[in-house]
Amino acid sequence: MNHHDSEKVAGTLITMGYIPTENPAEADLLLLNTCNIREKANQKVFSRLGSLHESYRLKPGAKVGLLGCMAQMEGPKIFQKAPNVNLVVGSSSYSFIPELVAKVEQGVPQVIDVSQDTDRLFETYTQSRENPYKAYVTIMEGCNRFCAFCVVPYTRGPERSRRSEHILSEARQLASEGYQEIMLLGQTVNSWKDPAGGIASFADLLKRVAEIEGIHRVRFTSPHPSDFNPEIVEVIENVPQVCNQVHLPVQSGSTRVLKRMKRDYSREEYLRRVDFIKKAKREIALSTDIIVGFPGETQMDFEETLSLMQEVRYDSIFSFKYSPRPGTEAYSFEDAIPEQEKGRRLMILQEFQRKIQLERNARFVGKELEILVEGKSQRDSKDLMGRTTQNKIINFSGPPTLLGKFANVRVTNFSPNSLQGELIS
Ligand code: 5AD
Ligand code: SF4
Repeated sequence: MNHHDSEKVAGTLITMGYIPTENPAEADLLLLNTCNIREKANQKVFSRLGSLHESYRLKPGAKVGLLGCMAQMEGPKIFQKAPNVNLVVGSSSYSFIPELVAKVEQGVPQVIDVSQDTDRLFETYTQSRENPYKAYVTIMEGCNRFCAFCVVPYTRGPERSRRSEHILSEARQLASEGYQEIMLLGQTVNSWKDPAGGIASFADLLKRVAEIEGIHRVRFTSPHPSDFNPEIVEVIENVPQVCNQVHLPVQSGSTRVLKRMKRDYSREEYLRRVDFIKKAKREIALSTDIIVGFPGETQMDFEETLSLMQEVRYDSIFSFKYSPRPGTEAYSFEDAIPEQEKGRRLMILQEFQRKIQLERNARFVGKELEILVEGKSQRDSKDLMGRTTQNKIINFSGPPTLLGKFANVRVTNFSPNSLQGELIS
């Protein structure tokens, strides 16, 4: 979501006449987009701001701005903590960027907007998309769920859905520009409801986007388990363009912890969803988010998370140490888990998952898979990388003319996080 916000802001600046540069020392305006979901991200920004002018060798007079959820939460305090900042724009105010940047250009020393602008949020921005083959499309923003650990409802504001005709017209435009893949975005993407009432459900929207000529792949992230219904699985089963991959954040395998997190599902209810996902006619890859060391999490609760992972056998996970966030309900919980213990649990969990991924990836060896070739391999820049419909990364050697095209590769080797393959056609 943040990454896509940066694309929107960059596009807006380009229409204002700015030219992007890879070299900060050349920049007249440097904007940092920030995340506030865990404390570490917050701290990183302040330490970076402290030495910004020296470490980026900014030219004299260059202006600095802070965007994103941290800007939203900290507001005017940022000017006190970081006097070198000229502009602060919260995560719901990007449509005001032209006016705000104009003020900075006129020499106003401290310009700020952290209003939660709901009306202009879904305006179509000129976007400077980073990947020429895959594009993000925002379909909803914000969240009303108030999980006890999470700042998102405060930083991104209440849940708002974008009108289906705007979503579909952006997707058609992307198809006409040659994009192959669309990723529908929203904090709880499957809670989307058409404000105009034209399209009945998220599952229907998924189908409608996939039917657009020229769009070969559609993904979505992240759905909330409580709104995840068999209708979505049916669409994945029946519409080949909808990728067979689901990221379904669980957060914990213990019903007791889930309750304290205010996740509004139990372990069993989550597993029932996993069950219908696993019974689908097409094999659907599953990934998740997990937090360890939530206040009051006992060793037994933690072991329940491990046993859930053993039961589901995720294709990949994102795992985090619980980070207390001011303003959230859990911030005042008194049974905090010591940092060292959180670290211990995280290491055990990640090692456990590494083994599961190794075992799961082994089954692909010898298989022929279709990939969208997306770029250079991170392992060896002479090689290319692509992703399967299940979002598995395959590195292989092939000509750069394949970039942005579909190719078939045979899997020859594997590691926990990627596969190695050879080009067939
Ligand atoms: N501490 C640790 N992880 C968090 N997440 C959200 N809030 C916190 C927090 N306070 C994780 C959740 C969420 C992902 C985007 O970030 O797992 O799904
Ligand atoms: Fe945060 Fe997701 Fe919970 Fe909303 S549903 S509060 S975004 S973790």
